[in-house]
Amino acid sequence: MLSIPFVAGLFAVSSFWLGQVNSLTISKRGTCPATNTAAEALASRIQSHYFNIVTGEYSELWTDANTLEDIHTLMLAAGVTTWDSLAGESYIGRVANTGIPSWSTVLDGSYDDAQWIILSLWKIADYQTSQGKSATNYLNAANTIYDIVSAQWDDTTCNGGVWWSSDKNYKNSITNHLYLYTSAEGFNRNSNQTYLDNAEKTWTWLEASGLRNSQGLWNDGLDMTSCANNGQTTWTYNQGVIASGLGALSKANGNTSLPVQAEITLDAAISLLTQDNILKESCDDVTSGGSSCNADQQIFKGVWAKHLAYYLDAVNSATSEAKYSPFLGSLNSAVTHYGVDADGDCSSTWYAANAGGGTYTAQSDASGLAAFNAASKYGPC
Ligand SMILES: *[C@@H]1O[C@H](CO)[C@@H](O)[C@H](O)[C@H]1NC(C)=O
Ligand SMILES: *[C@@H]1O[C@H](CO)[C@@H](O)[C@H](O)[C@H]1NC(C)=O
Repeated sequence: MLSIPFVAGLFAVSSFWLGQVNSLTISKRGTCPATNTAAEALASRIQSHYFNIVTGEYSELWTDANTLEDIHTLMLAAGVTTWDSLAGESYIGRVANTGIPSWSTVLDGSYDDAQWIILSLWKIADYQTSQGKSATNYLNAANTIYDIVSAQWDDTTCNGGVWWSSDKNYKNSITNHLYLYTSAEGFNRNSNQTYLDNAEKTWTWLEASGLRNSQGLWNDGLDMTSCANNGQTTWTYNQGVIASGLGALSKANGNTSLPVQAEITLDAAISLLTQDNILKESCDDVTSGGSSCNADQQIFKGVWAKHLAYYLDAVNSATSEAKYSPFLGSLNSAVTHYGVDADGDCSSTWYAANAGGGTYTAQSDASGLAAFNAASKYGPC
């Protein structure tokens, strides 16, 4: 009998604290209007300068997917409908809406590209839903592509992982980082246990794969003879996509060790892949004739920032938000002052003023846009 008031008292205390946590969550601010304005200017430039209304493309499939994703993220964040018709006009949207050509034809055996498209389709679906329109075609397309990727899991060579391509000769970080994220986030969206099982299987494999080095950074891939880490470049985007995947899995299965693992890598990227506290791809060089980053590599830094925001979305932790906010502010400032030029395009280089080495492409613009979006949501305002 004596224990009853004691237990009731405990409940009162714990629900008091739960109430505090909930009110913190509810009062969390939205996105930053000034940063959204900068992002909208960059998105307008991308549309006027790079979007081909005839083909529905900007440049190449996977970076186009990221660009579409970022423009829809921006419309959701800023509460605007400026690019309302874009999804239907885009090549990816047309395929989703018509089924022609087949996704296997479009993907052409590239299983990292496939998953960037899933992420763009989800964001388009979120936007369509926000406008009271049907998202069915986009969600069905995402499911179709997910199944194509899942069929590329192979337990035989190096004990697991999704093949990078239909050549079946490489297992790399990005394809499997993406598969962790599409699986875990897919479960968070659709509650389908197959997705959660795939996410857990993928993290178990990644954790034992040796792909993360002693500095906490993920190298490009495996040596397919020895199955050891091949020591190739620690690209920035890998260090972001692993974090969003671990954050989403933690949200799905409640394992609180996973954000700790994610932050080991995020912190290593901030400490090791930067100059003057600004992300710097190893191939970035602002000096004339300097940068050797190809078009793919020019979008990596923005992908890192976007997936840090996805990580923060998933873990919903005021502590983690406070930890990474200053760095997102640093990126926002760098893109604003060193990235964006007089024409409104964004340089591929952010770490210092461009002295002729930076390049201006659809990919570098999309990279800047992704950084603005992430900073708008989680940086200082
Ligand atoms: C769950 O996802 C798998 C893989 O995409 C699919 O085959 C299965 O039909 C889904 N289950 C349900 C109940 O939707
Ligand atoms: C939680 O994640 C950690 C880090 O990967 C792992 O070592 C541990 O086994 C997981 N716990 C459970 C209960 O799955």
